[in-house]
Parts: sequence; C-alpha cells; structure tokens
Amino acid sequence: MAEKKRAHILGFIQNGVNSHATGMWRHSKDKVGWSYTRPDYWEHMARTMERGLFDAIFIADELAPYSSYGDSSDATVKWAVQCPTHEPSTIVPIIATATTNLGIGVTLSTAFEHPYSMARRLSSLDHISGGRVAWNIVGSYSKSEWDAYGAQMDDRSRRYDRIEEYIHLCKLLWNSWEPDAIIADKASGIFADPEKVREIFYEGEFFKCRGRHFVAPSPQGQPVLWQAGSSDRGRDFAAQHAEAIFAIHPDVEQMRAYSDDLNARVVRSGRSPGSVKMIYGVQPIVGETRAEAERKFDEIRMLLPREGSLAMLSGQLSVDFMKFNPETPLEDIAIPGIQGVKDALVRSGAGSTVTVGEAADIYSMRFAMPAVVGTPSDIADQLEEFMDEGGADGFMLLATYTPGCFEEFVDLVVPELQRRGRYRTAYAGTTLRQNLLQN
Ligand SMILES: Cc1cc2nc3c(=O)[nH]c(=O)nc-3n(C[C@H](O)[C@H](O)[C@H](O)COP(=O)(O)O)c2cc1C
Repeated sequence: MAEKKRAHILGFIQNGVNSHATGMWRHSKDKVGWSYTRPDYWEHMARTMERGLFDAIFIADELAPYSSYGDSSDATVKWAVQCPTHEPSTIVPIIATATTNLGIGVTLSTAFEHPYSMARRLSSLDHISGGRVAWNIVGSYSKSEWDAYGAQMDDRSRRYDRIEEYIHLCKLLWNSWEPDAIIADKASGIFADPEKVREIFYEGEFFKCRGRHFVAPSPQGQPVLWQAGSSDRGRDFAAQHAEAIFAIHPDVEQMRAYSDDLNARVVRSGRSPGSVKMIYGVQPIVGETRAEAERKFDEIRMLLPREGSLAMLSGQLSVDFMKFNPETPLEDIAIPGIQGVKDALVRSGAGSTVTVGEAADIYSMRFAMPAVVGTPSDIADQLEEFMDEGGADGFMLLATYTPGCFEEFVDLVVPELQRRGRYRTAYAGTTLRQNLLQN
C-alpha cells in the first residue's frame, strides 16, 4: 500500500502589526512582550516554527495600504488592516541567522522592480540563508499599489504577460553562471572564467537587459518558485513555473477539484503530476478541549471591525464595497483583484448565496480558509482528510494572535500529527527545496 502523505506546514504572517485576521493586534494574547518592529520577535517566531519542523515561514506582502473602500485608505489605517506593514525581505537575514533549517518564503512583486535587481536580491538572500528561500511571485493586484507607484494598473492578462517575461529573464540570469565558473586561483589571480559567466542580451516586450548576473550561483541555484494565482491564467502559470502553490479553498471538495485541475495543467505543460506542491490555507484554532477551542474562536470573531473588514475585502478584490448594499450577492460583482479569494468566498456559503457583508466577515476572520477548530486530535483529523481526500500536500497556517498561535500549534498539533505518522520528525535536508520534496 502506498505510504500516506506527510503534511508540509508553513506559517503565514506579515511583517507588520497585524497579519490577515483583522483586529488581532488588540487580542489579549497578541505580541505580549514583543514588538514586530524588532529582531527578537522574528527570531522567536522563526525558532518556534523550526522547533515545530515547519517547512517555512511565509511572509505575505502588499506594497501600500488598501484604498479601494470609499476611495480612501482611512479605514485601512484606522483599523490596522494589514497596516502598518514593513518591507518583507528586511527580516529574511534575521530569520536566516536565528535558524538552520527553516525555509523563508518572501513575497516580492514584479510590478515595479526590474528583473535584474530582483534576481540579484533573491540570489543574495538564498546565499545568506544557505539555500532556504522561496519567492512568492506576485504582480500587485490592488489599485492602491499602482497609485502609490504612480502607475496605471494593467489588466490581469497583461499582468501575467509581464510576469511570464519577468520570470524568463530572472531564470536567464540565475542560469548564466556555469557551476565551475569560479576558479579562485590565488597564484594566477584569476577569480572566475568569463567564458563561463554568460552575458545576457535580452530584449522583450516589457524588459531589456544587457549584463551579467552579479551574484555567483546560490545554494539552490534559484529560489523555490511559489505562486498563488488562481484564475485560469494564474493556474497555467503555476503549472508551468511553480514548485509550490498556495491556494484557498473553503472545503475538501473544492480542494480536490483544484488539485485535479492543477495537476492536469502540470501534465499538459510537460511536467510530471505532483511536481507542484499543493499547499492549502487553514486557520487552526486549537484548545485542550473542544469547548475551549470554540471559546477562542468566538473571542477572535468578536474583535473584527466591520468597516475594517470591508476595507480589506475592497482592497484585495479591488472593488469599492462602500458602493454596494451589504446584502448584494458577491457572485454578481466582477472583480479585477484576486480571483482566488472571490471564488473561495462565493463558495464559502456551501451552496447558499454569500452576500458582500457576509464575505467581509468571513474574509477578515479567516481569509476564506477553512477554520479548523478543536482539540489537537480534531485538527489532525481534518488535516488528514484534506490530504487524503482533497489532494493537499500541506498547509499554510493563517496567524491569529502571534507568536502564541504558532506556539500552540507546535506544542499541541505537531505531536499529534507525528504520532499518526503524518508529519516529519526531522528535516530531510538543509535547503528548502530538499525539505519540500520530502514525504
Ligand atoms: C492564497 C493567496 C495568497 C496571496 N498572497 C498575496 C500576497 O501576499 N501579496 C500579493 O501581492 N498577492 C497575493 N496574492 C495574489 C496572487 O499572487 C495573484 O497576484 C492574484 O491572485 C492575481 O492572480 P489571479 O487572478 O490569478 O488569482 C495571493 C493570492 C492568494 C490566492
């Protein structure tokens, strides 16, 4: 009989006062004695995840406060809707130094930076972490980001055209040094053989580049390529380029449909099925007893500010929901923003219509992910079902209060998964790619 899959686990956070669950900054257990602006908080968070043998800490990001709600960022600022948020790659070296095996996923947008400097930064981070970096490739879906950079937002299809070219150029740069290019012969003084460091001459529709990659090959050669697009174009892109995908599906049937669809696209792109790891988002709320977990869930829900929730939904879907009656079905509204989020929210009603107001509440609490609430055993049961029936290879854990929610998962749920043989008991290797490929 085939061996059952073991879960890959990642912790999903932002480098800011609040991650995705709105209002957590005022939870009585949030960041007690810690400041998110300081290294020791990140060191502790990373060590906690490494203690729990997580594949990676995964740093989400956007480039500016959401401003779609009422054409203003007032509500975003007022309710700390993923704001303030600091630049994500600044904490990568801190996390890398505090840990030895934990991967570090970093979200960096292709929208306003040339591929040349992106490739250089990611190679540098991969070196400094000893080969533990993943790049969450995003193209900036929110109008506020384009406004902040003084640019006109492209439509989805053009954003993907641009991203395709972007990745192509990054790969040319990453692959331009032959493995034996560095000679480092002190006697002759020759450091590297220029014949083995290809100069790139590239001229595409969006980018031009003439130059050599400025960084010698990093331990992973290139970062693990991660993607979270879920529109048709997004799925094709992931099938062609990604090594792992992060998706949100509210139930096991949707996970199964998505896993099957993506695997079919992977095969059509000439890759073997299963070569893209399917990592699904979940919000775990664990208690020693079911009653305690449910009490925690209610406490978290009480802290959601409705206006802040609408601002977050408006930002992520790039629609001004102030203009809509909260009773309007979300399904009827076309969105230029994150298609995967809208789809997951529409389906969160399990067959009944989800209104804008309901969608905002679901979204700001759990980002349309399934909340897995209960004892360690309840949670392990659900994660097993998502792997066995839904095709999940692992899970991105949505933060509530930090670092406590990850400490609880590591102390309570990890041992239960290990007891069932559904989770690693040691890292397979030192690079993120090696650990992601481990069963
Ligand atoms: C689960 C999930 C997480 C995402 N995280 C981010 C993020 O941190 N930053 C960002 O700019 N975009 C993020 N995105 C947006 C996607 O990367 C993508 O740019 C966007 O979904 C538009 O593509 P799509 O229409 O194919 O979904 C996320 C999307 C999903 C579904």
